[in-house]
Amino acid sequence: MPERIFLSPPHIGNTELDLVKEVFDSNYIAPVGPMLGTFEKAMAEYVNISNTLAVSSGTAAIHLILRHLGLQSGDVVLASTLNFIGSVAPVIYEGGNLIFIDAESESWNMNPDRLEEGLEECRLTGKNVKAVIATDLYGQCVDLDRIKGVCDKYGVPVIVDSAESLGAEYKNKPAGYGAYASIYSFNGNKIITTSGGGVLASEDKELIEHARKLSTQARDDFPYYQHSELGFNYRMSNVLAAIGVGQLKVLDERVIRKRAINRSYRKLLAEVSGLSFMPAPSYGRTNCWLTVIQLDPKIVSATPEEVRSALEKENIETRPVWKPMHMQPVFANTHVIKGCVAERIFSNGLCLPSGTNMSDGDIERVVNCIVKII
Ligand SMILES: Cc1ncc(COP(=O)(O)O)c(C=O)c1O
Repeated sequence: MPERIFLSPPHIGNTELDLVKEVFDSNYIAPVGPMLGTFEKAMAEYVNISNTLAVSSGTAAIHLILRHLGLQSGDVVLASTLNFIGSVAPVIYEGGNLIFIDAESESWNMNPDRLEEGLEECRLTGKNVKAVIATDLYGQCVDLDRIKGVCDKYGVPVIVDSAESLGAEYKNKPAGYGAYASIYSFNGNKIITTSGGGVLASEDKELIEHARKLSTQARDDFPYYQHSELGFNYRMSNVLAAIGVGQLKVLDERVIRKRAINRSYRKLLAEVSGLSFMPAPSYGRTNCWLTVIQLDPKIVSATPEEVRSALEKENIETRPVWKPMHMQPVFANTHVIKGCVAERIFSNGLCLPSGTNMSDGDIERVVNCIVKII
């Protein structure tokens, strides 16, 4: 069996190991320590957002924002349907109701026109909308100016889920910049990883300070343990923050490599008719976290699932596009505004191996298999 090519595995170096050793030597293993502050500061600088908080996951970061916003049972949050469940599950944890918004063909991200329809519908039916969660899909930023333009009309804060897009740009600004709050994920398959973790960023200092308290069981400022509200055990550990500090140093290199991988796939697969790539709108620059293809069923007889399983036989990992949230059994009765664009992208799409440690030879191996099966 040839060596396995993974979808997007961790890519760690000696700097990370040295920093973790520093933490071990200092014995700041837990619960907090100086590396956390260093990581938060480095992240704040990278994304150009004043306040940051390092937590145990991207999902936890979203949960903390919703708790701070005071999401109550029956309140509504509108979110991208073409999405990963961690982006929206916290709405349900807090007893809120979701309305899913379709993607637009031009970017595969939340369609601002569908969002406006959703917000107008909520206004007419007297629903209390607490937030909009717009996800930067596969490393490509949402069209934030348009999303914000719509949300401002209705007085609703925008949370950008930049879990997949650290290193990308929107109108020459870092992913997540300009939202009420944004979140980043460092789980194992992200462009950089801390093995698991997340960062919450916002210009709202009060949000970050409240989230900081909530993330450590909401302990009041007393020598003994007193709690006036319920919190969570969501803080990132100092050991993992050390990995993050090291990974941030190589983020720009990782972005360059991800984009080069994407360019190679585009070049090598350019002649395959009926095969196209995730569109890249001119308002931004994707970090190319994953390279995603579409197969036109009118031209290509092989389905994405047939391609996926043929590649799996060659020990190559690919992955279907996120199954839209409104098609998930767990959200069976959840309202969606349209949804057919997301459904089409799901049924025609496939995510290709995009790990920054893959070689040019690995890319050729993937391409040859795809060409053969198609
Ligand atoms: C779009 C999106 N949102 C949220 C998350 C959740 O992040 P985490 O796994 O760190 O909880 C992820 C990734 O895992 C994601 O891809």
